[in-house]
Amino acid sequence: MVDFAGSSCDTERYVVVIGGMNMDICGRPTAAIVDRDSNPGKVSLSVGGVGQNMAQSLAHLGVPTYLVTVYGNDANGRVMERTCRENGIDLEYAQCLDDFRSSTYMFITDETGDMLLAVNDMDICEQITPAFLKTRLDFINGASICLLDANLAPETMKWIGDNVTAPLFGDTVSTVKADHFLPILNKMSVLKPNAIEAAKLSGIDIHDKASAEEGAAWLMDKGVKTVYISLGIEGILCASRTSGVEEMVHVPPYPTIIATANGAGDTGMAAITWSYFDDPNRPIQEVGHIAQAASSIALECTRAVPDIDVQKIRNKMSAPLSVA
Ligand SMILES: Nc1ncnc2c1ncn2[C@@H]1O[C@H](COP(=O)(O)OP(=O)(O)OP(=O)(O)O)[C@@H](O)[C@H]1O
Ligand SMILES: [Mg+2]
Repeated sequence: MVDFAGSSCDTERYVVVIGGMNMDICGRPTAAIVDRDSNPGKVSLSVGGVGQNMAQSLAHLGVPTYLVTVYGNDANGRVMERTCRENGIDLEYAQCLDDFRSSTYMFITDETGDMLLAVNDMDICEQITPAFLKTRLDFINGASICLLDANLAPETMKWIGDNVTAPLFGDTVSTVKADHFLPILNKMSVLKPNAIEAAKLSGIDIHDKASAEEGAAWLMDKGVKTVYISLGIEGILCASRTSGVEEMVHVPPYPTIIATANGAGDTGMAAITWSYFDDPNRPIQEVGHIAQAASSIALECTRAVPDIDVQKIRNKMSAPLSVA
């Protein structure tokens, strides 16, 4: 059984998340969609963005969490500001920008909830520039962990790699954006791609455990210290290389009744970050169990970000793992 150090009560320590926050607008038709027509259904709004999602889970896990991001001075921006406050995410080092639209992600699903198409309006993320971060650098460097999402532009990533001294953790977000981490792989303490993002980064076709191990080895050859590759129903590959000693271990998922597939990876990455914040010396296999427990909790919840807490992770971990 994993011992939870509970160090999250320490108010001196904090995590900084640098990344995207957007308003998600979802349209789900009641019946099979009719193209180029008005389809009856449900339209719902929620605050998303990988950076914000991870910040929300971290805050719920008791970590003092600062989200460094930008949002517009518009109706969506005000909703996002209020929601962050309600979720315990500190926006003191974020900025509301007058002349920009808040980042918005609009998607339409089929009647079962599977995404059919999306339009993302995330240009405002480009305002997270080196100049923007420079004024916050001392605070960022005071963090126990600086967690990045791949919504940041490559030159911003590069600047972070050159200037941020706090341990860098990252989620690669999507195959299109994963490459944004390429300039700073050698600066990353922890990176979590999923299988196709790791394949995009490494050029290795990741389709089973052996090829996932090859992908992890490629990332560690580039200088990432610890890699977690989430493999959907196959669980997670945990890999690390310290002082020339390599360790790789597969952790299968916990039995899960899926309510929605959205956001399990984000919650898993937040739990990985929490795990290091709580105890930086925890074995990677235990971190993998924590990630799988958190992802399972996310999959069983209809919202992208579940109401997670440490006790729920603990409860989940008392269930037997699925057979790998
Ligand atoms: N059917 C399932 N049962 C249990 N766990 C699952 C299942 N599918 C995925 N998971 C777990 O959820 C986590 C996230 O999975 P995945 O590999 O899809 O990451 P991701 O693509 O980054 O997700 P996201 O779309 O949230 O970014 C993984 O750790 C994975 O093992
Ligand atoms: Mg993901």
